[in-house]
Amino acid sequence: MNLRPASEFPLSQLADLMTRSFEGYFVPINITESALLTMLKRDSIDLTSSRVMMKEDKPIGIALIARRGWTSRLAAMGILSEGRNQSLGTQTMHKLIEEAKERQDKEMILEVIEQNTAGVKLYEKVGFKKIRRLVGYKLENPQVESNEELKEIDIRELARLVTYHGLKDLPWQLSGTTIMQHTPPSRAFKLNDAYCLISNPDATDIVIWSVLVKSRSRGAGLSNVMIKTLFKKFQNKIWHVPAIYPEEMSFIFEQVGMQRENISQWQMSLNL
Ligand SMILES: CC(C)(COP(=O)(O)OP(=O)(O)OC[C@H]1O[C@@H](n2cnc3c(N)ncnc32)[C@H](O)[C@@H]1OP(=O)(O)O)[C@@H](O)C(=O)NCCC(=O)NCCS
Repeated sequence: MNLRPASEFPLSQLADLMTRSFEGYFVPINITESALLTMLKRDSIDLTSSRVMMKEDKPIGIALIARRGWTSRLAAMGILSEGRNQSLGTQTMHKLIEEAKERQDKEMILEVIEQNTAGVKLYEKVGFKKIRRLVGYKLENPQVESNEELKEIDIRELARLVTYHGLKDLPWQLSGTTIMQHTPPSRAFKLNDAYCLISNPDATDIVIWSVLVKSRSRGAGLSNVMIKTLFKKFQNKIWHVPAIYPEEMSFIFEQVGMQRENISQWQMSLNL
């Protein structure tokens, strides 16, 4: 097996390889070229540092690497089903860690589905440590009361606040830097000192991408009022909280009646 820079391949081929490498995954994965473009932009994936795994001159898997400052993130790694469980994943991880050290990175991070035994085992084996559990929630068509009103704000304003008020080691996809890359039809709202970012509210399914309460106003139930007001503003929707939120934030979603998803993730880190 050898590794080639993902930047040598057309996007359509990378998207197709990703879809096939995640065959039989815990959640259905279908990566189109446009979905891949969104991932690259939003999550700072660097195709020159990402790798296509080659066996006998044929692509057999893919590892996407995102980079910001001194930190690398393994954004995705998948191997075609015929290549799994033959230590290709382990070999690839060793090389990716070596390459990150060569470029003077100080930390490599990733998130892995807790129920993905092969993935968790592999990352622990090469030295990653669990930081915290990440959880997701869902709620269909909530019936709530609220007389409050949300004010729409620029997504960039929310991104600046998350950078300032959020945890320093927030999962990559919740960080201010990622939030900054969201654009309409996603929308950001505020209610007093509480803020949120949601995907296009015209769709039936809406994703909550960010929830923030300014440090000075925490503990006063503001997020509860804001989320209920959001549910009231956009009715007959299915609300999703992806499994990228620290477990210590779960009360925010539980207090508005959302149900925990079965799938959770480990946020993991390796000091280089
Ligand atoms: C996860 C994945 C990348 C691992 O790569 P791999 O080449 O199959 O893994 P390896 O052969 O290097 O094995 C790593 C460890 O996991 C174990 N393992 C592999 N498959 C397993 C399975 N189905 N169940 C339990 N353990 C498994 C191996 O025994 C090995 O542990 P060991 O060294 O103690 O024996 C690969 O299975 C895959 O592409 N899966 C689908 C996509 C995916 O889950 N990606 C990870 C998302 S973050």
